[in-house]
Amino acid sequence: MKREDIDRIASFLGDLKCKTQKEVEEARVRLLGKKGEITALFDEFRNVDRAQKAEFGKALNELKQKAMAKIEELKGTVADSGASDGPKADLSMPGDPFELGSRHPVSIVRQEIVDIFRKFGYDVAEGPEIEDDYHVFEALNFPANHPARDMQDTFFVSAGHPNPLLLRTHTSSVQVRTMEKMDVPIRVICPGRVFRNEAISARAHCIFHQVEGLYIDEGVTFADLKQAILLFAREMFGPDTQIRMRPSYFPFTEPSAEVDVSCNICHGKGCNICKGTGWLEILGCGMVDPNVLEASGIDSKRYSGFAFGMGLERIAMLKWRVNDLRHYFENDMRFLHEFATAPEV
Ligand code: PHE
Repeated sequence: MKREDIDRIASFLGDLKCKTQKEVEEARVRLLGKKGEITALFDEFRNVDRAQKAEFGKALNELKQKAMAKIEELKGTVADSGASDGPKADLSMPGDPFELGSRHPVSIVRQEIVDIFRKFGYDVAEGPEIEDDYHVFEALNFPANHPARDMQDTFFVSAGHPNPLLLRTHTSSVQVRTMEKMDVPIRVICPGRVFRNEAISARAHCIFHQVEGLYIDEGVTFADLKQAILLFAREMFGPDTQIRMRPSYFPFTEPSAEVDVSCNICHGKGCNICKGTGWLEILGCGMVDPNVLEASGIDSKRYSGFAFGMGLERIAMLKWRVNDLRHYFENDMRFLHEFATAPEV
């Protein structure tokens, strides 16, 4: 064994550069493998003179340490280059948790309602959120300056125009667009976001969601409306559900009614959710006013129809008893995660 052998390997190490992990591995085998050059020097070390053992031993150990450090350093800095390098990652490690999102409670309720009406043969129609006055009011029998417009505080986008743009206050505008486009018979539901200029509180919000429905054919009567609402209420709230109708007013329906369902929490005994009445208000409805049919070119002598509309946040409140509307809009993850496995009521 000669001093030069050690120096030669040390200078090789100093200059060693690798481009791939494969080259690093080759260098490791060449120096430190079973038949490697440094391994061979350790074998020869047995034959070194006693007098030189201390000096050579120290140099040889230093060389081995340096070689090991250099190989480790190269392993860490050289880029991966294909499968032949072997896996760098420990594939037996548990994977990173994959966080699943959950559907928003309003989306859950909307889907449920859409599914129910699809079973009854209704199509789904959508329309623009920024609408014109004609489709939100005029065609629905709200003449200009009619006090009924105050029922729905409106956000105007462009005022001072004979047919100003505004944020729709109900999805009845989509029903108008459907009547304009489609031939009778019409059976359609219109889910969507609506806007009203209300101060935000636990019980009111300036944005909410509706599903409205429209059915027009020959000979449609109030009895058909009542039956459709009863079937819907039983699908939505359970087979024992009862409904009651109270007279109401909407410019686009005549007669009009407000519908309550029997409280599915106390079953009519009276509780704090139904405020002791045993009934919960869920929607507005009525027979489509002949003026509305005529405005969209439908012969009101031949055809009649009914319409209804409900607020999705209100149904979600009844379903999950989250009685502060603001929760539905704040997107607090703690609230949204509650619905990952939403309990059925
Ligand atoms: N458009 C009404 C509202 O938003 C609801 C409704 C629809 C009432 C259809 C009767 C018939 O308040």
